[in-house]
Amino acid sequence: MGDLALVISFLFVGIIAGILADRERRQKQVLQQTTQQLSAVYREFQDNFEGMKRAERLYALGQLSAGLAHEVRNPLASIEGAAAILQKEPGTEERRLEFLEIIQKECRRLNRLLTNFLDFAKPRLPQYQAVEVGQVLDSVISLAAHAIGRKAIRLRKDLPPNPPILECDPEQLKQVLLNLTINAIQAMPDGGEIVLAAQQQAEKILIQVRDQGSGISPANLDKTFDPFFTTKENGTGLGLPVAHQIVSQHGGVLSVENNVDKGTTFSVLLPAQHGRGL
Ligand SMILES: Nc1ncnc2c1ncn2[C@@H]1O[C@H](COP(=O)(O)OP(=O)(O)O)[C@@H](O)[C@H]1O
Ligand SMILES: [Mg+2]
Repeated sequence: MGDLALVISFLFVGIIAGILADRERRQKQVLQQTTQQLSAVYREFQDNFEGMKRAERLYALGQLSAGLAHEVRNPLASIEGAAAILQKEPGTEERRLEFLEIIQKECRRLNRLLTNFLDFAKPRLPQYQAVEVGQVLDSVISLAAHAIGRKAIRLRKDLPPNPPILECDPEQLKQVLLNLTINAIQAMPDGGEIVLAAQQQAEKILIQVRDQGSGISPANLDKTFDPFFTTKENGTGLGLPVAHQIVSQHGGVLSVENNVDKGTTFSVLLPAQHGRGL
């Protein structure tokens, strides 16, 4: 090959390399643009999603406030009625005490309602920490024991030999299990056994509260988690909604079913590690 041919072929290779480099640069640009567009779309989607959640929350709060107003009116009417009777015709000492007791009872009810309502309307974000599930169950059992009174109820813990470790907000998890256990106690006027069980299932932890109580009628099963749904004279109907909300915030699921024999089982299924999802 002569010198000229050599120069030409170098030139040729140079031009090809230049074209290729140019094409690569353009492709990179296109890729960069696409990435930017994608992240813009993603941001927009996220903004919309956040907005949607806010709108949903506002809607839920609106519904809740209407329910709350309704729930507050009944005790207020009782208090007003009792006070009016006391003012007009105090009567005997016994009668006076009777009406004062009504006032006190209704005030306590209002207080409970507001505490539960605030838990629900202003939930705290979970503060995660690795805990032994067994320890959480122990403290729930000792707290719930106070609610047993004179009933013949036994609280039993059922754990595998290697108790599972769970990343959760222990205080919030205790609140959930306490709400479920107190419901179980209230559903067993004639006594029986309540089992708090926990087991690891792959990356998840299943905690159950099983009772031998009245069970839930099929017609009510759908409504049990509705705010203010209660079948109890002094109930607030907020225990389960609060529990449901805490479990959802942990990325878990709270569900209920009637047992085959007697009573109900509430199941809390949680990701063992925070941020893993179910
Ligand atoms: N373990 C249970 N057994 C039977 N019924 C239950 C049980 N837990 C909850 N329920 C039903 O669900 C309703 C709602 O429960 P909850 O939200 O805790 O409110 P409250 O206890 O104030 O009524 C109860 O009134 C009851 O009818
Ligand atoms: Mg309750």
